[in-house]
Amino acid sequence: MTVEEIQSHRTGTILGRVIHLFETIDSTNTYAKSLVSSGAEEGTVVIAEKQTAGRGRMNREWHSERGLNLTFSVVLRPDTGPETMGLLPLAAGVAVAEAIEGITGRRPSCKWPNDILIDGRKCCGILSESLTDRQGRPGVIVGIGVNVNQENFPDAIGHTATSLLLCTGRSIRRSQLIAAILDRLEDIYAIFRRGTTDRIIERWLAYATMIGELVTVGTPGGSVTGRAEGLSPDGGLIIAAGETRMIVHAGDVTLHINP
Ligand code: BTN
Repeated sequence: MTVEEIQSHRTGTILGRVIHLFETIDSTNTYAKSLVSSGAEEGTVVIAEKQTAGRGRMNREWHSERGLNLTFSVVLRPDTGPETMGLLPLAAGVAVAEAIEGITGRRPSCKWPNDILIDGRKCCGILSESLTDRQGRPGVIVGIGVNVNQENFPDAIGHTATSLLLCTGRSIRRSQLIAAILDRLEDIYAIFRRGTTDRIIERWLAYATMIGELVTVGTPGGSVTGRAEGLSPDGGLIIAAGETRMIVHAGDVTLHINP
């Protein structure tokens, strides 16, 4: 995959104006954070063919074989307040789901907060990190890992992970997929900046399969069980347990099958 190849598939003009493509790096999120600290412009993209210390949510590792998948980070500099920041990873999830659907014809599902699944298995994870630069200007790194053409996964995730190749039986051109993700993200990020955040929630809900289901959410403060009712305006998950309604902003969801 080359930067020229990616650019040849792009229609958007803001995200990916500057692309750093590494053969090997520790983590594209870590590198993008250092770029933000030194004032990198909005839309800068960092891609790696291999990460040696790829990071997932909740301090987990992100495994991805060299040259087969997409591991990249996008620098955003939203000038909206912190209240709606939680919507950015959801917006990125919608962008990935729409791009995957457009290219493979398979309709993925979005699992709160930001996993993309096909056939109930995870093919994409998103790690969003916020920071401020030396001038105190906010920046958000949206880190996206998509399992594209990988066929084998480590035992620990073998029963929960999948790739687009495994789901479709055909190998996918990575440059075309990342270009489509950046185009979709550019489009939905414009909606985010305009403040019409209910449109983002609507688009995310169109891909969600867990709303109305009984779920347990493991949160940093303990676990919560109840029916997933929808999303709050800031992207939290609304859980109804009896008469009580709670909004959780971070955690891992387990769906109860046949409650
Ligand atoms: C998760 O599902 O836990 C989130 C995984 C996010 C992985 C991506 S790969 C590109 C970027 N760089 C990282 O170190 N992590 C994210």
